[in-house]
Amino acid sequence: MLQGKTIVVTGAASGIGAATAALAQAQGAHVISVDINAPAKAVGRFIQADLSDLASIDQLVADLPEGIDGLANIAGLPPTRPAAAVVKVNLVGLKELTTRLIPKLADGASIVNLASLAGMGWPEAKAAIQASATLQMGDVETFCAAQGIEGARSYFFAKEALIVWTMENRWTWRSRGIRMNCVSPGPVDTPILQDFVQTLGARAEEDMRTMDRPGTPADIAPVVGFLLSDGAAWIRGTNVPADGGMFANVQLQMHGF
Ligand code: NAI
Repeated sequence: MLQGKTIVVTGAASGIGAATAALAQAQGAHVISVDINAPAKAVGRFIQADLSDLASIDQLVADLPEGIDGLANIAGLPPTRPAAAVVKVNLVGLKELTTRLIPKLADGASIVNLASLAGMGWPEAKAAIQASATLQMGDVETFCAAQGIEGARSYFFAKEALIVWTMENRWTWRSRGIRMNCVSPGPVDTPILQDFVQTLGARAEEDMRTMDRPGTPADIAPVVGFLLSDGAAWIRGTNVPADGGMFANVQLQMHGF
């Protein structure tokens, strides 16, 4: 339960972020919704911010209160958008917001990053992920060109790097008990589902057949909510799939079962 906690949710205007903000509020949290777009129906206090823009991130951090108990980094762009924009929002902006916000987090706070099954190939992308460790917002275009990160690859790369960053920082804020985890959904029925279907083509239809149905935001929000809660206090640096069994299927096939 999130009773009495102050929870910041990015991407709160739509899809999984909107469902997470609503769930946190229903559980008694004080919710601060963040998005580049104003939500049709804001949950809690709304702050407009563009997570691809450092000045906007700085303003957001200044506007947020002290003593935040949970940060749900859910804002994201789909793979159909320009590669640099995807890497900025889904990776660099997320990291910049998180690290800048640490001083305003309460001791024992929980950070939850929305990754994706699209990031499960991270062991194959070691060089590019390591090269992105100190990537600055102003260098994203040059970085993508140098690393051959074009088109939909940007989405996969950003999620791979996010999963690795989450694992690497499992203990970074140990002295204050601040922990960080990822959730990796399979296909979820939100406005960006069609972008994935378009990007993956025939593979998307094949993948869909390994599940009973696509997910809904209501399938993902409770997983984020659990990781934000005190019940998940000993879960650190993990990546939790929420995917109707899709990742289990991928792993079994990968290892020849
Ligand atoms: P959505 O499109 O419904 O919501 C994304 C939200 O992020 C939107 O409200 C949008 O305005 C906001 N946003 C985009 N750029 C922003 C920026 N520069 N600054 C601030 N906010 C910005 O999409 P959905 O499906 O709810 O996605 C949420 C997260 O879940 C994303 O990180 C996505 O990659 C991830 N995800 C989604 C899956 C799906 O099938 N829908 C599957 C796996 C992961």
